[in-house]
Amino acid sequence: MKIFLDTANTKELKKAADIGILDGCTTNPTLIMKEGKDYKKTLKEICSIVSGPVSAETVSLNAEGMVKEGREFAKIAKNIVVKVTMTPEGMKACRLLTKSGIRVNTTLVFSANQALLAAKAGSYLVSPFIGRLDDIGEKGTELIKEIRQIYDNYSFKSQILAASIRSPEHVKEVAMLGADIATMPFKVYEQLFNHK
Ligand code: E4P
Repeated sequence: MKIFLDTANTKELKKAADIGILDGCTTNPTLIMKEGKDYKKTLKEICSIVSGPVSAETVSLNAEGMVKEGREFAKIAKNIVVKVTMTPEGMKACRLLTKSGIRVNTTLVFSANQALLAAKAGSYLVSPFIGRLDDIGEKGTELIKEIRQIYDNYSFKSQILAASIRSPEHVKEVAMLGADIATMPFKVYEQLFNHK
C-alpha cells in the first residue's frame, strides 16, 4: 500500500521524504489556507519535494470550470493529479481531463456506487472518505471492502485512495482490506512508528 501525506505543510513533507517513506501527497483548499500561502506556489513547492502524485483540488461547481482549473494545475508539474468532486459535473470533467491526458482524483466518495461511477469515468484515483463516514455513525472502512470487491470484479484500473484517515487503526484496516493508497495527516504518519 502506498502512503501519502494529507498536508500542505512543506516541513512535514520534507521530514517524510527524508525518511524515504512517502509515495505522494493530497492537498485541499482548507489545508493550503491553514498554511496561509498561495495555492499554486505551494503546489509547485510540494511537487519539488514529492516525486509521486500530488493532488490539487478544483473548487468550481460545473465541469467547464473544473476542466479550466484542472488544466492550469496540470501546467505546474508532471506529477499533479487534479481533484474533482463526485457529482455528475465532476464526472463530466473527469472524462474530459482524462481524455486530454490529465490524471484525475475523484474526491468526496461516500458510497460504493459513487466509486463505481468514478471508475467508469476514468478516474486515476478514487477517494472514499473513511473518517467522515465514521462521523455520521457508519463504519467507513466497510466502504473500502466494497469498492475493492467491485474494482476486482471488473478489473477497474482506478486506485483506491483511502482518505479522511484519523488514526493508525484506520491505516491498518484499509491496508488489510486492500486499499491501494492511504493518505493521512502527518500526526498519524508519525504515530505509525510508535508502539507502547
Ligand atoms: C484527501 O484527499 C482529503 O484532503 C482528506 O483526506 C480530507 O479529509 P478530512 O477533511 O476529513 O480530514
